[in-house]
Amino acid sequence: MNYKTALKNTIFEIISKASQELNLESYVIGGFVRDYLLQRDFKKDIDIVAIGSGIDLAQKVSELLPNKPKVQVFKNYGTAMLRYKEIDIEFVGARKESYAEHSRNPIVENGTLEDDQNRRDFTINALAFSLNKSNYGELVDPFNGLQDLENKILRTPLNPDITYSDDPLRMMRAIRFATQLNFTIEAESLTAIERNKERIKIISGERIVDELNKILETAKPSIGFLHLYKTGLLDIILPELTALNNVEEIEGQTHKNNFYHTLEVVDNICPNTDDVWLRWSALLHDIGKAPTKKFNKKQGWTFHGHEFLGGKMVKKIFERLHMPLNQKMKFVQKMVMLSSRPIVLSEDIVTDSAVRRLVFDAGEDVDNLMTLCEADITTKNPTKFKKYHNNFDIVRRKIIEVEERDHVRNFQPPISGEEIMEIFDLKPSREIGILKEAVKEAILEGEIPNEYQAAYDFVLKRAVKLGLKKVK
Ligand code: CTP
Repeated sequence: MNYKTALKNTIFEIISKASQELNLESYVIGGFVRDYLLQRDFKKDIDIVAIGSGIDLAQKVSELLPNKPKVQVFKNYGTAMLRYKEIDIEFVGARKESYAEHSRNPIVENGTLEDDQNRRDFTINALAFSLNKSNYGELVDPFNGLQDLENKILRTPLNPDITYSDDPLRMMRAIRFATQLNFTIEAESLTAIERNKERIKIISGERIVDELNKILETAKPSIGFLHLYKTGLLDIILPELTALNNVEEIEGQTHKNNFYHTLEVVDNICPNTDDVWLRWSALLHDIGKAPTKKFNKKQGWTFHGHEFLGGKMVKKIFERLHMPLNQKMKFVQKMVMLSSRPIVLSEDIVTDSAVRRLVFDAGEDVDNLMTLCEADITTKNPTKFKKYHNNFDIVRRKIIEVEERDHVRNFQPPISGEEIMEIFDLKPSREIGILKEAVKEAILEGEIPNEYQAAYDFVLKRAVKLGLKKVK
């Protein structure tokens, strides 16, 4: 079968022409071919392999293009890249890598197409379309990658121990592809991942997180996290999560398995948000439970303060994995720290003041927090499930009501510290802080509306207790 129709983008004809001029062969390989055959969306990234110099080919292609785009050359890797109509095109010369038995450093030599396909991660990523005049559009598939695509199987072209040991990130990639594509990882490959798991330690946090993000961006991330768990990788990457995988029993009392609960929460939140950071919050929302778990006869199992500790653990995880320590981290921390608040609310009668406090603390993120907490309802008891959801609906309605009336989402004190100083002719002092805090509390408690006059009158009254007199 010929796949010329996959190559309708003019760039392929230009690459083909450039190859002819240089008298070398070239092929499209990897993700583009795989995703075309799977009828997945094209992701604006094309890999070209040249039987010869990838750098020369890239330069030739640039010459033939009307706008002569800049070619970025990575000499050390023997690769080059150019951008054409928003598409990144990467060129590499076909390579053969041979590993001396006791050395990790490959001896890289020029190779044939098949040599190059051999050193790729999976058979489905080793598929290539020819760009050569003689067989333009033909599929080159030496390892039955097409059949693996049909059977939905991830298989390495070489012995998996070699493929994974060469580049341990591929263990994460196997699991990520299995999750994204809903593929099975071949049994031999899975056991090879188990055997090679320690090698993941040589991979940078950034690259690991790239893969974790891609897993979290899928419709059912639990598939990936279960693979990560079963192969032992999760214990190395995120031991805070595997620590949640137990159920203890004392005096006939057990607690739920918070690891499997967490995975359910992550899957639950996916239909309701594409925000990967909210999905991270779901993943980490209970991590404080392992270190805070206690048992006492009166209350049974408790996890006091797990939200606060969990928030602190978020920062450590972000640091360890070299994740951004910016607003995104703060957001995840905040979600984890507040993650039990709406649940507690929904168990009782929902008072206005409790809702006001929630909106005050969560600010702009209150809707995200509600989304997280709704996903957190994993009870299998249908009556309880319904009750919690109904109560959350009430909380959501109240949030809107309270916000319309009291505007505490981005709370600005209705009366400023400067004004309080003027009223009582005070220098900056403790009393001002006390009065401002009292105003805020009165608003949150619903004693006064969030308005200037009410706050002014309240300050005058409250100041009497502090022995202050109005001078202005
Ligand atoms: N590749 C590999 N080992 C890696 C990374 C990549 O063998 N650790 C090869 C695969 O043949 C892959 C190609 O390089 O198809 C391109 O890699 P990349 O662009 O990272 O991945 P894609 O397969 O294109 O898919 P995605 O963009 O979804 O990551």
